[in-house]
Amino acid sequence: MIRKFLNLGYQPLANSYLHKKKINKKEKKFKLEIVFNDKNFLVSINKKIPTKEMFNSSYPYRSSLSNTMMKSFKKISNTIKKRFNPEFIIEIGSNDGAFLYNFNKKKIIGIEPCKNVAAVTKKKNYKTITEYWTKKLAKYITKSNQSDLIYSANTLSHIEDLNETFDAINIALSKNGVLILEGPALLPCIKNNIYDQFYCEHIYVFSTIALSKVLKNFNLEIFDLNILNTHGGSARYFIKKKDNKKYKINKKVKQEITKERKFGLHKFSTYQSFSKRVEASKSRLINILKKLKKENKTIIGYGATAKSCTVLNYCKIDNNLIKYFLDTTPDKINKYLPGSKIKIIKYKKLSKKNVDIVFLGAWNFKKEILRKEHKFIKEGGKFLIHVPNVKLI
Ligand code: TMP
Repeated sequence: MIRKFLNLGYQPLANSYLHKKKINKKEKKFKLEIVFNDKNFLVSINKKIPTKEMFNSSYPYRSSLSNTMMKSFKKISNTIKKRFNPEFIIEIGSNDGAFLYNFNKKKIIGIEPCKNVAAVTKKKNYKTITEYWTKKLAKYITKSNQSDLIYSANTLSHIEDLNETFDAINIALSKNGVLILEGPALLPCIKNNIYDQFYCEHIYVFSTIALSKVLKNFNLEIFDLNILNTHGGSARYFIKKKDNKKYKINKKVKQEITKERKFGLHKFSTYQSFSKRVEASKSRLINILKKLKKENKTIIGYGATAKSCTVLNYCKIDNNLIKYFLDTTPDKINKYLPGSKIKIIKYKKLSKKNVDIVFLGAWNFKKEILRKEHKFIKEGGKFLIHVPNVKLI
């Protein structure tokens, strides 16, 4: 049975940043509700937006803009070379090449449906196919040679049709090949009240228990995993075909499943209490912002993330409370955040002279950003963070 546990209200498409010209036009909105499937333990959003409305030639996200992500991709690339020494790698969702560039051009191919982003890696002569990951594409790419390593980071959660995805993977992956899937993990998400992990693009947030169940249907299994700090807590799964005897199942897999069950990720009541904590977090964030505003503090945002879109629209925060957002992404600059219509301005170093409080939209890069803005903090500037609990730091 599919059971609803959280209503995040009416939301626009998170990455549809608005041009000034369109700011007064009615935006397309949908009701963002989060559901739990008590059969396979999958947590997902219940209204799926047509893929082409989200992943098109104006997709703004760039993975290589963060040092944290660049370092993470470099590290896993080195591990892949040492541990698996692959001949032919496919990356599903290659974005602007943060992973691709760690490999020899002849050995890797990127799949990236967003034309504008794919153009970046094509320009650098990395073979990139501008299409969605499908069985047809898998057959085409691996006509003569199957892949011995398929990698996909922060992409699987964006794809609604898991049957098509894993069927295609089974076509493209060689008998002894390895599939590495990486993305936001459900345990830290629920534990730390990270409700903004849910937005139109994040159809699923996977747990190990749910992913194991899904994989079973495709004769695939997890044989190893890494728990990562990226994106507020991620998991990287090493997956093989069931009849691949080359790799033993690491005990970490069972340990993680035990941890998730102990926390209650298989029980609906866990999600009901998460929902209550989210509502409390919303009230606290609104109250703090209103109080600071009353004290005449200048409040801005930092990192106009898709996650911020969920928070701003759920909490109904607009430019009365947050003056503008700073961001480094070229495609977001001088546009407006969807729904809240707060302006995004080109990043410049923070100074206490013109800013008192900074709402950290990109809280997932907290360490990197706080290091960068140490002068502002030293001058008495404060960051407002809403996860795991709303507080000023
Ligand atoms: P993400 O949370 O979806 O990965 O997006 C991060 C956003 O934050 C992206 O638009 C870039 C922005 N950002 C900055 O503006 N400054 C920074 O120092 C970092 C790390 C990110």
